[in-house]
Amino acid sequence: MADGAGESRILAEYRARTRRSRELHEKATRLLPSGIVHDSRRTLPYGIYAVRGAASRKWDVDGNEYVDYYGGHGALLLGHQHPDVLQAIQSQLGKGLHLAASNELEIEWARCIHEMVPSAERVRFTSSGTEATQLAMRLARASSGRSRIVRFQTHFHGWHDQVAFGVTEHFDGSPSVGVLQQVADNTTLIAPNDVSGVERAIAKGRDVAAVMVEPIGSSSGAIPTSPEVLGALREVTQKHGVLLIFDEVVTGFRVSPGGAQGLYGVIPDLTTMAKIVAGGMPGGAVGGRKDILDWLDFEAAAAAGHERISHQGTHNAHPLSAAAGITTLNLIRASDACMKASATAAALRDGMNEVLEEEGVPWAIYGEHSFFHIYTNPARTSLRPTAFDASTLRIESFKGKNESALAKLRLAMLVNGVDLKGWRGGIVSAAHTQADVDLTLEAWRRSLRALRDEGELPRATMV
Ligand SMILES: Cc1ncc(COP(=O)(O)O)c(C=O)c1O
Repeated sequence: MADGAGESRILAEYRARTRRSRELHEKATRLLPSGIVHDSRRTLPYGIYAVRGAASRKWDVDGNEYVDYYGGHGALLLGHQHPDVLQAIQSQLGKGLHLAASNELEIEWARCIHEMVPSAERVRFTSSGTEATQLAMRLARASSGRSRIVRFQTHFHGWHDQVAFGVTEHFDGSPSVGVLQQVADNTTLIAPNDVSGVERAIAKGRDVAAVMVEPIGSSSGAIPTSPEVLGALREVTQKHGVLLIFDEVVTGFRVSPGGAQGLYGVIPDLTTMAKIVAGGMPGGAVGGRKDILDWLDFEAAAAAGHERISHQGTHNAHPLSAAAGITTLNLIRASDACMKASATAAALRDGMNEVLEEEGVPWAIYGEHSFFHIYTNPARTSLRPTAFDASTLRIESFKGKNESALAKLRLAMLVNGVDLKGWRGGIVSAAHTQADVDLTLEAWRRSLRALRDEGELPRATMV
């Protein structure tokens, strides 16, 4: 990553501030593919190694402090190290890690979910969001006797085979490497928000078990979905007797204590959850209609005279996750945490757009709830950041983005004390403060100027 006049100053400053992270990255590449454990953490030339977090901040091995907008990949609505959550984990730690028996905590955890999430008549715990979406699909297929899952291009549902294509590529529905053609053959990918496309897919083969959606749009609203679209999906699926699955792994307990379904009053048949549900510990869950979850129930399946879905998982409802989850969910429902995080994110979006206007950069910051997304306007159209309408975004809107500029933007923000969620934007917690917003806006301005100095900012006009 060099500019015309030699190495980028942004990169040189990043390297100077992160010597120990670089050493660790070099060690890591000898053991871990690309030196990382999650694709989205790939940062060029290398990412920071974190050692500690507290509330809205985190620190790296070189002693640098960051305002953290990665938010534990969305798991930390209450910020790092909430004292009540820590206390719950610590108290459970003293009782044993894994007792390989039923535990009262799992009942309490399920009760919280049942009371907060409108669709969750019954709950089954998993160890991750990926496992939750996989189980939801199996439940949909078993209970409907149909094979096809309809989902939307760019919507992310984890990494198992059935959802591994059509997210960042393979939009034509072909399987990505390592995934069987037969798996892809049982999936139909529809353009985001294309409800008539969904209806056509349902009518076509009469083999659709379920439609699955990220309820506020792909990757937490990068291509937004409106409540009207959700309502229309509910209507279409109900009309044709097809199940509707909301993937609330990110939106659950964040956009409202009852997730997107609680906020918009559109109730799916099945809901997948993870992240916040387990309070920062590993964990996930599927909630949904009793008659569907009954496919996991020994007695109900026997009484109905059909085979039961088998489902195991060594760490399902792990006691530490249950302890953290119960405490987190109770804190969320007893407080304004969701609204506070959303209000801070709104202030941040407004402030970042004002900086873009002041600096004459035709990009935009958009998003809803506690998310913000950075639109870098690859087509260089005329736009006014503070008046940007994100509902116009399509998959094509992101084509041709300047990868080099985006990689530098990420580093520039790190150099200025802000850890974004990749270069795409970030997730705000209830622990973020006005001081965090102020620091971020200053970092944003400095980063844009640094990018401009290196010739990386577009020269498009603002309307
Ligand atoms: C909407 C959505 N679904 C599913 C998943 C997968 O969850 P996990 O990473 O816990 O497997 C994610 C993860 O980011 C997600 O954002």
